[in-house]
Amino acid sequence: MADTQGADAKTKAAQPASNGNGTRKLLGVTVDPTEIKRKAEMDLKAIQEPTKTDVYKSIFRVRHDQTSRSRTLGVLSNVFLHLHPARVNRDAVRYSFTWGMGGISFYLFWVLTWTGVLLMFYYHPTKVQAFRDILYLEHDVPFGKLLRNMHRWAAHAMVLTVQLHMFRVFLTGSYKKPRQFNWSVGVILLVLTLLLSFTGYLLPDDQLGFWAVTVGTNMARATPILGHEGPFGPQLGMTPFNDVRFALLGGSIVDANALLRAYIWHCIAIPGFAATFMIVHFWRVRKDGGISGPSRIMLESEIKKPRVGR
Ligand code: HEM
Repeated sequence: MADTQGADAKTKAAQPASNGNGTRKLLGVTVDPTEIKRKAEMDLKAIQEPTKTDVYKSIFRVRHDQTSRSRTLGVLSNVFLHLHPARVNRDAVRYSFTWGMGGISFYLFWVLTWTGVLLMFYYHPTKVQAFRDILYLEHDVPFGKLLRNMHRWAAHAMVLTVQLHMFRVFLTGSYKKPRQFNWSVGVILLVLTLLLSFTGYLLPDDQLGFWAVTVGTNMARATPILGHEGPFGPQLGMTPFNDVRFALLGGSIVDANALLRAYIWHCIAIPGFAATFMIVHFWRVRKDGGISGPSRIMLESEIKKPRVGR
């Protein structure tokens, strides 16, 4: 009898005692059945879908390609991808619409920057050495000819692609409101591209560059107000020794100072301005609602008729 009582007592202690709020006492420990059920479900989930558990996600990068929301997060939470819009209009980025010329111009700018930096390792902007350095690059430096020609052809190509890009923007009417500001930024970029090309032309210090810059800077003589042969120039005291041409050449003839000035404008100042304006240009494309895109084709039945008589 005493044994039976002892066994009863043990069974009673082992049985959970409900205390009204859903939790139970089991062997002196408070147990919440809903919590147990939640943990059991989590364990089951870990077995069935291990990639969705917190442990897995803390070790491996989360895949963002499952739902629309997680794909958006994938773009926004990545330092490089967040520069892109999370969603783009498929028609707006079609090559048949953009011609890809803006992107190609930017790519060429990158090629020019990198090949230009490498060329700087071999080039001295002095009258004695400039042309010799070019010959050295062409004939002795390993891959020097390739490097120089990559820079030269990318420069020619960029002048062309920027103009084609501008032509496309004009044809698609993308210069209109709200993109008029970006069109103006684009005009500055066009001028900077041409200036980069022009200043680079003198650097080999060959006959071609010398005469091109002679002709080009002679045009500056005739600038209104700032040139000594331009309208109102002489009246304002402009002479061959203090006008805009003198400032461009660092003297009154195309010589050592002109070479040094062209080099500094070409390698530091103009690329710096161009890079800055490109950042503004791309930011503005986003701000103006992305690339303009072809207008949506509507069925006649989709056109909402204005309500009359109200
Ligand atoms: C260094 C020169 C330039 C670069 C690297 C550049 C780059 C770009 C890029 C990547 C785009 C996105 C769309 C596309 O690729 O077509 C764009 C759009 C645009 N660009 Fe340029 N661009 C340059 C010069 C110009 C010039 C010269 C103009 C006009 C004077 C211009 C006006 C515009 C406008 C208005 C847009 C918006 C077009 C749209 O929404 O459809 N850009 N540019």
